[in-house]
Formats: sequence, structure tokens, C-alpha cells
Amino acid sequence: MAMDMEAARRSPPKQVTVRIRRYDPETKKTWWQEYKIEAHRGMTVLDALLKIKEDVDHTIVMRYSCRQGICGSCGVVVNGTPRLACQTQLTEVVSDANPVMTIEPLYNFPVIRDLMTDFTDFFNKHRSVKPYLIRNDKEEQENPKGQYDMYPDEYLQIYQYTNCVYCGLCYAACPVVAADPEFLGPQALMYALRFVNDVRDEGWKERFLIVDTEHGCHRCHFAASCSAVCPKAVDPAGAIQSLRSKLFRFRLGLYKRRVSKIIGPPPEKGEKVPLPPEATLLPGVDLKKLEEEPVVIKLPEDY
Ligand code: SF4
Ligand code: SF4
Ligand code: FES
Repeated sequence: MAMDMEAARRSPPKQVTVRIRRYDPETKKTWWQEYKIEAHRGMTVLDALLKIKEDVDHTIVMRYSCRQGICGSCGVVVNGTPRLACQTQLTEVVSDANPVMTIEPLYNFPVIRDLMTDFTDFFNKHRSVKPYLIRNDKEEQENPKGQYDMYPDEYLQIYQYTNCVYCGLCYAACPVVAADPEFLGPQALMYALRFVNDVRDEGWKERFLIVDTEHGCHRCHFAASCSAVCPKAVDPAGAIQSLRSKLFRFRLGLYKRRVSKIIGPPPEKGEKVPLPPEATLLPGVDLKKLEEEPVVIKLPEDY
């Protein structure tokens, strides 16, 4: 769910009521607590939470770091939908007609305290699909003597998946994770495809066996609520469909793809590496032009 730029230009109601679901691990009590804040244009859900924490109630526990949608640590459920708090404008979730927002910890994660959740299972599942390059030649894998060849169209097979920021919103939105806690979940399955598609990798047989289980890719219902909430447009639901179709071909003995080779030593420090002619094949992007001219981002006049 990318940031809504139209909403960012609007002004929120002057006063917003924030209802936060709190949890105290010592007493095991859960309760709703209500706060009222003065809101302003450009304010995000994270800004609102920090304002409450700084001015009203410093006992609220939450997780955040970068404040710009990069670290993936500020995920919460706002009005029933998993979102990154720092990338959600108040105007996306409240209005003059309804100036109330509810904030809960991410669904499908154990709650540590208030809005902070435990990502242990999520990362264990991510690690279980072997999210790293595997080569058949273990010596080459441990001590590579050069760089692998990879062409732009091959890079595009993995590009969108490398944008994942491990925020867990997809996992929180998945009804199958809620019903089957052992289900690998959208992020881990998407990451399995990320490496299956990587021409530098030779570990697809291992990964196909890992995802070809009752808690693997066959459990997915393809309702795509994971893709609907992903803040980086990774589309884990589409990735799982693609993974299943490749797994099907693998089972029939028909799965094949190119494996890249070492093409020479890595560049020396400071050495300028010329762009290969294929670089210009990236759709809509002229990399050579980008090297020569700085990119200027123009904001609308009224911003
Ligand atoms: S598409 Fe699959 S992984 Fe995504 S939310 Fe639905 S069941 Fe979960
Ligand atoms: S796939 Fe999207 S929603 Fe899921 S962890 Fe990665 S960035 Fe977050
Ligand atoms: S604080 Fe880093 S993504 Fe929101």
C-alpha cells in the first residue's frame, strides 16, 4: 500500500481521537486507551503516536527507526488494516466526518507489549527457505574468485522482491497464517521465489522441497490480502502463484533456466566499470543518461 500523495496534500481534522490497544505482559491484561491530539497537515500515524508518547503518555511501547518507510519496523494495524505508521498520512485514515482512528499491534504476531510484536517466527520462516545464494561448487560459494554475469532482464526477475523491507504487513494480513501458524507465509514464500529466479543461484531443488509441503505454497488461498497491504508493491501473492507454477514444472522434470558463470575478477577499488550495452534495455530507464544528468524531482506548486 503505497503512500497516498493526494491524501498527503489534504489537511486532517484539527483534533483526532486515537484509540490504542495496549497490553501489559506482567498482568496479561489487554485494554483500549483513548487519547486526543491536535493534528496538522503532513502528520503521519507515527507522528501522532510519538506526539502522544512525548506529550501525554510516555509508557506506550512501539517500534520504529527510520521514519521513511525503509527499515520496516513501524508496522501496526490502523482501523483494521496493516500499515507502516511512518508512511500513513492521518488524512488516509481519518476525516472530519470520522476523526477517530484505532491502532493495534500487527495481527498474527505474538504481542510483547502494547504495539511491539515478536518477529521470531516470521524470521525463522524467512531463514527456512535459505535466503542466500547457493552454488553447487561449495569452494566457489565460500571463496568466489570473481563476479557473476547477470543481464538486466534477468535482474528484473528478482528486482521487485529485493524491495521487501521485512515489515511483516503481508504476514499480518494473511488469513491462512491466522488459521495455520505453521504456514510459511507470504514473505518467506516470496523470498523462496526471489532466489529460485536468481540466475546466480543453483539451490532451487532444495527450495522447491522446502515449499512443497502441507504448510508451504499449496496452503495459499490466493486472496491476495498480502499484496494489497504491501508498502513496497512486492506482490507476494503473485510470487506464490509463480512459485507454484515453477514447482509444478520441476515435479514434471521440466524446470530449467540459465545459471550464470564467473566472468572475471571483481573491479579494483576506485575502478570505473563501464555499463554493458544491455543496460539500456531496462524498460523506461536510460541508465547512460542518468549517469550524465542529475534527477530533479518536481513537487506540485501547492505542496
Ligand atoms: S494470497 Fe496467500 S499468502 Fe497472500 S494473504 Fe492470501 S493466503 Fe496469505
Ligand atoms: S512482502 Fe511487502 S508486506 Fe511483506 S514483509 Fe516484504 S515489504 Fe513487508
Ligand atoms: S520507521 Fe522505518 S519504516 Fe517506518
